[in-house]
This record gives sequence, C-alpha cells and structure tokens, in this order.
Amino acid sequence: MASVSMTVNGRSVSAEIEGRTLLVDLLRNQLNLTGTHVGCDTSQCGACVVHVNGEAVKACTIFAADAAGAEVTTIEGMADGDELHPIQAAFKEYHGLQCGFCTPGMIMSAAALLKENPKPTEAEVRHYLEGNICRCTGYHNIVKAILAASGQDVPAVAAE
Ligand code: FES
Ligand code: FES
Repeated sequence: MASVSMTVNGRSVSAEIEGRTLLVDLLRNQLNLTGTHVGCDTSQCGACVVHVNGEAVKACTIFAADAAGAEVTTIEGMADGDELHPIQAAFKEYHGLQCGFCTPGMIMSAAALLKENPKPTEAEVRHYLEGNICRCTGYHNIVKAILAASGQDVPAVAAE
C-alpha cells in the first residue's frame, strides 16, 4: 500500500492505495464519488470519463498513483451548489439521457470538447463522442444538448 494525494473537485484528498488501484476505483470505492460509472472492462464505453488537469480521461485507464498531485474533476464537481452546470441543464432540457448510465461520462467529455472548441459543428460533436457509448438515446438528443450548451441553434432533427 502507498499513500496518494490529489485534488478532487477542489478538495485535497489522500488515500491508501495499491499500486494496481485504478483512478476510477479510488474515486468510486474510497472517495464515494459514484457518479463516475464503470460500464465496461475494455476501455470502450466512456462512462468513467473525468477530467485530470483539465483533460478528459477515461478513469479506468489510469492508475490512481499516476494522478498523484493532479487536479481531478468528476461529475459531482460540475454543478455549483443547487445550480446545474450549463451542460447538465442542457441535457435536462433536451432529454439527452434516458437511463442515465452514460450521462456522467458524456457530460465530462462534452465539457472537455467545449473547452477546446467552444462552437463545435454537429459533426465535430459526434466525432468527439466516439469514445462514449450510449445504449438508450440514439445520440440525437445528446448532440442537441451539447449544441445548445454551446449557445448554438439546435437542429429540429439532428442528422445521423
Ligand atoms: Fe468503460 Fe472506462 S469503464 S471506458
Ligand atoms: Fe442509457 Fe445513455 S442514457 S446508456
């Protein structure tokens, strides 16, 4: 076991971890931040996306030890008190979720996209979300929500 420290959602945290502990397991099992989901064991689904030093990262793909000293943001760190983050509010308004399992990862990926590309085209949104799988929505309303969150017009029916 070893000790690791990092900042998670603006709070300094320390934990005892094994060398093989994944960041997603530290977040979920030791810090009780269960909004970061695990939907696969193949690094494909994107349900576990968090931000590490501002970059979208699949938290199942890095060791917790490799995030030592990092600034980590999870879905729990997106809202401002009772006020939803604008991307969360857009997902709510445009029905960008059904079961909600993929939603934390979708929102964290969307936030990273809008940070690097504040006005993405619909095609750019779809391309960016390639690493996030949704089994429910067919993606249309997710794309609409992200376009709306970027302050752009939302197509009545998004293209495939
Ligand atoms: Fe599926 Fe991380 S849990 S990509
Ligand atoms: Fe169910 Fe995306 S809303 S997996």
